[in-house]
Amino acid sequence: MEDKMIIPLYDLIFSISGVVDMVDFKLKDHHEKVAYISYRLATELEIDTKDKKDLVIAAAIHDIGSFSRKDNLERLKFDNYENSNHAKRGAYLVNNFSLLAKLAPIISYHHLDWNCGDRQMIGSNRISLLSNILQLADRISLLVDNDNILANRDKIVSRIKEAIGRKFNPDFVESFLTLSKREEFWLSIINSKLIEKELKHFFVQNDLKVDLAGLEELGQFYSKIIDFRSSFTANHSKGVALTAAHLAKLCGWSDKEVKKMEIAGYLHDLGKLAIPVEILDKPGKLTKEEFSIIKSHTFYTYHTLDSIEALKEIKEWAAFHHERLDGKGYPFRLSEGDLSLGSRIMAVADIFTALTEDRPYRKGMKRKKVLSIMKSMVSNGAIDGSLVEILENNYSFIDKLRKEAQKLEEERKKMLV
Ligand SMILES: [Fe+2]
Ligand SMILES: [Fe+2]
Ligand SMILES: [Fe+2]
Repeated sequence: MEDKMIIPLYDLIFSISGVVDMVDFKLKDHHEKVAYISYRLATELEIDTKDKKDLVIAAAIHDIGSFSRKDNLERLKFDNYENSNHAKRGAYLVNNFSLLAKLAPIISYHHLDWNCGDRQMIGSNRISLLSNILQLADRISLLVDNDNILANRDKIVSRIKEAIGRKFNPDFVESFLTLSKREEFWLSIINSKLIEKELKHFFVQNDLKVDLAGLEELGQFYSKIIDFRSSFTANHSKGVALTAAHLAKLCGWSDKEVKKMEIAGYLHDLGKLAIPVEILDKPGKLTKEEFSIIKSHTFYTYHTLDSIEALKEIKEWAAFHHERLDGKGYPFRLSEGDLSLGSRIMAVADIFTALTEDRPYRKGMKRKKVLSIMKSMVSNGAIDGSLVEILENNYSFIDKLRKEAQKLEEERKKMLV
């Protein structure tokens, strides 16, 4: 691996929001649309390029703190004064990721009405303005119905006009009214391909150069998002990450590759962000339908990481953990020849962690049972026998490592509450 990897900014931010938008079909393309409307408003308002970039990036991830169907229903309402928890959570997440931390306040206030008394509390005029443009773009996007947009635009315009001075800065609404006269504006905001082209162009010279530490930070950023969604998944991923990294080390991998394997472990269930939290955290037995929804998660892990070329290996190690050597796994139905050692390691680490950790409905299994299940999976053609052998030869050490890491993770979470 080169010392620095290039990650296009556009790909990074939309890989993050894309997966959050998957939770609800009604929100498909929500972030993309809001980012684009913000971009058009900022252009109309002649905001300088630096602020415009910050605004568009913040808009492209503004709802990453929104996780449940309830959150989503709330944020779909036009007037939702009280509903800013997801905004606060989103700001917290972003604040912990150095590449995006400066956007946290814009995200934090994106549901604050213009005439709200607290607006003075923001302290910065710049943040106040940018977050209100985002609020306006967000509300416009909620009113947009992709079917026959030109017939509906007058309705949208009058709804926004009703809230002049109350929800929105009057100058921003003025700019929106100018834009709204152009059919081109309306046709553009429902055209996903066009939006992608224009925004990619806007970010063209903004590639990020990320080293291994930066990549790790990115991995942790993603896993914090998972953590907020489902703390059980985050804890599980911690165990998988350490087990997989240690197995890779025992296979003779270099320190750098081992680190990458650890990052892949944190991300292996990233696609669970696309699964409604009500299903992920359901205490009882899952229905057949719910289980089939859960099974789609590695498909989303793959496609979320797919947009970032620099993450190609990590993506494959992470996303193929439910594939089987005999081709009977899911969702890609890959077989032996397609599964690299890294992907095989992840599958073994995932099964090992799942069996040994405590689950809400059962205690973690003991060595004898774990190994007997895993060996029968080897005989059935599911997983790699040589890796299970390595695991068996180092069982107590790996299990201790996994258990301690998961315990620490548990304690860290308790301290946060
Ligand atoms: Fe929101
Ligand atoms: Fe939104
Ligand atoms: Fe999984």
